[in-house]
Amino acid sequence: MKKILVSGVQPSGRLHIGNYFGALKQFVDLQDEYETRIFIANLHALTTLQNPEELKKISRELVLDFLAIGLDPKKATLYYQSDVPHVTELAWIFSCLTTMPELMRAHAFKDKEAKNADINVGTFNYPVLMAADILVHDADAVPVGKDQKQHIEIAREVARDFNNVFGELFKEPKELILEAVETVPGTDGQKMSKSYGNTIPLFATDEEVDKAVMSIVTDSSGEYPENVFKIHQLFRTNDELDKIYTENKGQYKKLKELLAEDIKNFIRPMRERREEWAGKMDEVDKIVAEGGKKMREVVHKKMVEVRERVGLIHND
Ligand code: TRP
Repeated sequence: MKKILVSGVQPSGRLHIGNYFGALKQFVDLQDEYETRIFIANLHALTTLQNPEELKKISRELVLDFLAIGLDPKKATLYYQSDVPHVTELAWIFSCLTTMPELMRAHAFKDKEAKNADINVGTFNYPVLMAADILVHDADAVPVGKDQKQHIEIAREVARDFNNVFGELFKEPKELILEAVETVPGTDGQKMSKSYGNTIPLFATDEEVDKAVMSIVTDSSGEYPENVFKIHQLFRTNDELDKIYTENKGQYKKLKELLAEDIKNFIRPMRERREEWAGKMDEVDKIVAEGGKKMREVVHKKMVEVRERVGLIHND
């Protein structure tokens, strides 16, 4: 029996290469080794998005993105979080075991609260729903970006709390973080993030890549453009880069062109695959629908055990 891998991504519009190298790449790399279950975290998206048409649209787009990066529906189960409503029930049960101080320590919550005092309860409870997403599968591994590390720690705490109170039932999952590319730099050298406007979209057209690369901030004092180099490291080995950056010392424009070429070659096959899938949306919708059905069955079994354990009388 293969180990189980679970992860989710909140639909939020266009993915960028930081999302890919920071987390998504692992889904593809690990789909042979693990029984892979990847979901579109549309319930989590409701914490910030209250626009039904938009939510539907970006949720379906995220399925396309998953297929485009190379997730193979024969190996990886893709599904909408909301198609497995058991997780909200489990999140409630976990909420009754989790204390306010535990959740108040979460960085993501503290950051959001600092910006907005009128923060909603869903945002506060975000890590508890995440714990339910993961624990309900008895997941072994959870590939995520570095920013989600604390949330996985909370999921482990929740598992321990439940097991202490009701007896051993949940497995403590491990996060998988690509340490080598902990932080993917954006065009301004800060972490690549939509909110900083410094991204290179993952399915960018050639023109968009050129434009983004030319906008990379360079500091003319150094021998080589550091921000260009840092992004280049995602696409080539250090040996290759040493050669390229020595041969073209001081030629910032040329180096940017070489980087743009590498990015375009990398993106092209994924963008084409995305276009292909976009041409058969019926099939795409069927893939996620079937994924949801399969996951509901698996998860239902686990929930029957959970209800038993906590003393909820159930009739199915
Ligand atoms: N919080 C994750 C993100 O921002 C999405 C997510 C929701 C998730 N539930 C999860 C990730 C469970 C891993 C496991 O993208």
